Amino acid sequence: MTGTSGGNHVQRPYTQLQIALHWFVVLLIFGQWYTSSAIPRTHNPLLPPSESDLIQHAIHTYAGVLIGGVMAIRLMLAHASYRRRPPMHLALTERLASIVHGGLYLAVLCQVTAGFVTTYLWGPARVIHAFFWDVILILASVHIAAAAYHLTRGDGVFRRMIPWLR
Ligand code: HEM
Ligand code: HEM
Repeated sequence: MTGTSGGNHVQRPYTQLQIALHWFVVLLIFGQWYTSSAIPRTHNPLLPPSESDLIQHAIHTYAGVLIGGVMAIRLMLAHASYRRRPPMHLALTERLASIVHGGLYLAVLCQVTAGFVTTYLWGPARVIHAFFWDVILILASVHIAAAAYHLTRGDGVFRRMIPWLR
């Protein structure tokens, strides 16, 4: 979340495409959480996996790779849209927003990489995959709390990610 500092407002106007991709990724990450529990069942040597578990495993793999691609595109779009250089003396909320947003980009991309490595290259990387899930949960919780804070303040930051409230 970005804020204001002494009238020095850092504008971050998002295009409809950026907003759509933000919510698309949120939806996909929710799906990743849901489908992840089917994966251990497909690797159970004692019980044959159900059709539904196999489909969920496949969805987890392909949707996970898709999230990586969309996050990379979002990073490029964000970079292109920060046309104005930010002021040298950023407010505390600006710094926190940059750290949490940057952390979310990084954690999600690391999560995708760790999932890919676990599946195709080196099984023990599952520990790293589980670790980055915890990191995403912590950062997303802070992010959502900040969104709620801005919503109650009515400072316009929350509206930036709501397509019909622009
Ligand atoms: C795991 C889920 C989420 C992820 C990974 C995520 C990620 C991000 C990232 C990376 C940005 C910065 C975009 C940029 O400047 O390039 C952002 C902005 C934003 N997000 Fe999320 N987000 C998630 C969930 C949510 C939720 C649930 C809400 C609302 C309750 C929300 C509200 C916002 C708002 C209002 C902004 C704009 C902030 C600003 O302009 O400073 N996000 N999100
Ligand atoms: C942002 C994208 C992703 C998210 C949010 C995500 C989330 C999760 C979660 C929450 C788990 C359960 C972790 C645990 O507590 O044990 C999991 C497991 C797993 N994920 Fe992902 N995942 C993502 C991407 C991927 C990708 C791209 C792949 C493969 C190409 C993948 C492969 C796996 C595998 C194989 C497991 C099971 C690991 C085990 O056996 O313990 N994931 N994922």
